[in-house]
Amino acid sequence: MPTYITTPIYYVNDRPHIGHAYTSLAADVLARWRRLEGGEVFFLTGTDEHGQKVEKAARDAGMDPKEFTDRVSEHFRVLAERMELSNDDFIRTTEERHKRACQALWEELARRGEIYLGHYEGWYAVRDEAFYGPDELTERDGAKYAPTGAPVEWVREPSYFFRLSKWQGWLLRFYEDNPDFIAPQSRRNEVMSFVRAGLQDLSISRTSFAWGVPVPGDPAHVMYVWLDALTNYITAAGYPDEAAERWRFWPADVHFVGKDIVRFHAIYWPAFLQAAGIAPPRRVFAHGWWTIEGQKMSKSLGNAIDPLALIEEFGLDPLRYFLLREVPFGNDGDFARKSLVNRLNGELADGLGNLAQRTLSLIQRNCGGELPGEAGRSEADAGLFDSIDALVASVGKALNAQLFHTALETVFHSVREANGYITQQQPWALKRTDPARMAAVLRHLHTALRAYATVLQPFMPGTMGRMLDQLGVPSEGRGLASLETSLPAGTALPPPVPLFRKIETAA
Ligand code: MSP
Repeated sequence: MPTYITTPIYYVNDRPHIGHAYTSLAADVLARWRRLEGGEVFFLTGTDEHGQKVEKAARDAGMDPKEFTDRVSEHFRVLAERMELSNDDFIRTTEERHKRACQALWEELARRGEIYLGHYEGWYAVRDEAFYGPDELTERDGAKYAPTGAPVEWVREPSYFFRLSKWQGWLLRFYEDNPDFIAPQSRRNEVMSFVRAGLQDLSISRTSFAWGVPVPGDPAHVMYVWLDALTNYITAAGYPDEAAERWRFWPADVHFVGKDIVRFHAIYWPAFLQAAGIAPPRRVFAHGWWTIEGQKMSKSLGNAIDPLALIEEFGLDPLRYFLLREVPFGNDGDFARKSLVNRLNGELADGLGNLAQRTLSLIQRNCGGELPGEAGRSEADAGLFDSIDALVASVGKALNAQLFHTALETVFHSVREANGYITQQQPWALKRTDPARMAAVLRHLHTALRAYATVLQPFMPGTMGRMLDQLGVPSEGRGLASLETSLPAGTALPPPVPLFRKIETAA
């Protein structure tokens, strides 16, 4: 079955930071895993370029919005490249294909009587591009703020409305019938109680600015930026052309989002789609937020972390590993350099890197650089194989539930097991006393390393690719199924090169 995985499309009012990199990375790992399973995958990311917030950012930069969005969108495209995201497409909402899709969706909703013209009067936060009810606001120094801390302004203008209130009952049934639609569970509860409290019709057009997709037949209105933005997920699948080659990927399997935008994805989006007769997505996973060294990441504090600088300093794969290992996916977490260094040095360099280096150097030195043949398993090998034999299934189970940290814990638990095994078996000492057993131990360790490198490819594609090279695994056979075929005895292995560089720390 084909798989469709998305990231949010990022606003181009700002440069990319570690929060953006995080969501994209999670989506990338799942996309790569599904490909390793042999599945066909469509993985989408891109930029959200319309709306008042972007228009204002362009004005502040003294630029025309088109010129401004071209420039900032490019930063996100470069980030995707530098993060080695395996996205199959990069969508920009200023593209013609997207305008066509938005207008087609609008027309379909209008045709079905889901849209009417009225007046919007209420509180709007430009920073969130969201409307808020008066009961949601707090007041400070005479100004009003949304629960997100964004200032709100009173807006009164003619507006088209989407009959969201009508979909309340359907949404609640949909959540009940699809308990996995919103994850984690805590977010699902939140969304459900919000919907139970009652939904009002949603204002879906604005007249006070022009940077957006014009409403068909009434170009004084531009579409509400969230209707525009959410539509990107079907634009890229070819909508409105349901005969398009990519339409078979719809509905999306997982929309990865931050917890800040779960409401838009879990309430508005399925309602828009259902109202237009289009299947809703299968799942929305909302992850938590990163703070930086204990502080909220913010423009005013100037503490936003540039992922490119981190890649420069630590290397891409240690960063990819750290982000998904440090915090249970779904929870908030804190980004501290010290923790990154500890994990890189302890788990990657001393744990996995050292195991590979020790094993491969011994094969080099004691076996003439040739892989020993498969050997029978003795009782002493049972502990090692317990975790290796179950590895693909247990990592797959975790990843298919988006539990990235659990997947990594499982693998590194086994790596610790294997490090214990090498220490206990002492293959270096067996050379004189029992060379056949030495060969068997090294072969078992090679089997373990090959399994680790194979399942870790989605997390650390470059480094695990090099590890598989060193293990003599042919580049065309590195999928999960390849683990069922044993490598021939005598396979020539190149002299090993350390996989991870340790970071020196002041004692
Ligand atoms: N343009 C909308 C999304 C439209 S999707 C149809 C948007 N863009 S955004 O640029 O503000 O990006 C928001 C996303 O960036 C969050 O949902 C989250 O995925 C990620 N993050 C931004 N800051 C973050 C942290 N501090 N921590 C973790 N992720 C965060 O909203």
